[in-house]
Amino acid sequence: MLLYYFAAYVTFATCICAEDVCKGNRCDTQACPCGCECGNSHDPGLCYVPATAMAEPPPQKMHAVQGSGHSCYKPDWSCISENLVLPDVPMANQALIEMRGSSVNPINVDLVEPACEGGFEGKFPCSNGTLGNEGAGIVLAVGANCAGLKKGDEVWGFMHGAYAQYAIADCTKLGLKPSNLGFINAGTVPVVGSTSLQCLKSAGMPSKKTNLTVVVTSGQGGTGFMAIQLAKALGATRVVTAATGAGIDFVKSLGADVVVDYHEQDLADALADDSVDIVFDNFGRKGTADKMMHTIRKGGTFLVLMGGNGGTISKRPKAGVRQVDFGLMHANQQTLDELRALFVAGKLHTRTMQPTYGLAEVPQAFTRLLSGGVLGKIAIVPSRAHQPTSMIV
Ligand SMILES: NC(=O)c1ccc[n+]([C@@H]2O[C@H](COP(=O)([O-])OP(=O)(O)OC[C@H]3O[C@@H](n4cnc5c(N)ncnc54)[C@H](OP(=O)(O)O)[C@@H]3O)[C@@H](O)[C@H]2O)c1
Repeated sequence: MLLYYFAAYVTFATCICAEDVCKGNRCDTQACPCGCECGNSHDPGLCYVPATAMAEPPPQKMHAVQGSGHSCYKPDWSCISENLVLPDVPMANQALIEMRGSSVNPINVDLVEPACEGGFEGKFPCSNGTLGNEGAGIVLAVGANCAGLKKGDEVWGFMHGAYAQYAIADCTKLGLKPSNLGFINAGTVPVVGSTSLQCLKSAGMPSKKTNLTVVVTSGQGGTGFMAIQLAKALGATRVVTAATGAGIDFVKSLGADVVVDYHEQDLADALADDSVDIVFDNFGRKGTADKMMHTIRKGGTFLVLMGGNGGTISKRPKAGVRQVDFGLMHANQQTLDELRALFVAGKLHTRTMQPTYGLAEVPQAFTRLLSGGVLGKIAIVPSRAHQPTSMIV
């Protein structure tokens, strides 16, 4: 630990020195001092600190919402606390992000609920440290080998500990935020957008088939509201999904053509034999593969998303139906960039529930997710800490 903070001190000391050397020097008449670069977008004749150098030390302390390493229940969520902690320092291949938006995904809640004791799904222990895994914000500093990212960039992507005022992210898991999205909305997209895009591609989209029918087993939640829009954007002629209550009009507004009320009817019973090409089982409930199999045409695909509902592929698939056990989404910049292009082109839209939640309200946000009826996403706003702190400059 001591070594860690010593390394951090050396980084800052070096960089403050570099900034001092660059300051006030111009390169229109002579070369910049060693370690400085010539010209930036504001002034082509100014010497400045290269983007990959730390331009200023990060704040002393920040608010962060942390798990204790043990489990707890709603509504008190006693294993979650908001603490004042030192921000981490970006090492090579990492960036420090000033967080402006994040969101709640089922996995964030799963990893503090009792199922995490002994390892959720046998893989993930209870959260111990800062919670949250995605968001949007502004690059404050970058370590070495982060070509393409610089201080001041507005980014979205995957963070280590996103429910904090500042977070570390791997540079390969960040992308430039779509210019037409605010930080709060953008911060709700990386996980669900990347998951649904990767799943639909793994299921064969975009496809050369005409009149393609795609089923999204759960339409109104995070992965679902993205998947409906993505299926249409990638060429589906007909999208079939399940929703309920106000969710029915919501998913229709996103482009769903056939909507089954899942409190009234099972999606598999509502569909005719051999009537669909792709089933994206994002709800992933046990037994769905067997139930849906009759609906899938020869040459079609059933894909199940690994999640908290225990779904699997079928042990007795219909002849001619391909099955995909998707596993985990791969956090990467390429997928984020594909999503950005679709947002900028107006083919994707966010849906953020009101109210949004500040850091001190993360427990309420978790309870809200578990209460049902969430259409789209629940946003966390990390810049809305409860108490003002001296580090906010
Ligand atoms: N493997 C991966 O990399 C990965 C990535 C992302 C997500 N996941 C998993 O995928 C699953 C879905 O994630 P999500 O982000 O979409 O969750 P979410 O935002 O909670 O959405 C789930 C939705 O399903 C609705 N629902 C409840 N019963 C239903 C039924 N019988 N039929 C259809 N819909 C029903 C819920 O409505 P109510 O709230 O009103 O009940 C909710 O809107 C979770 O298990 C998650 O852990 C896995």
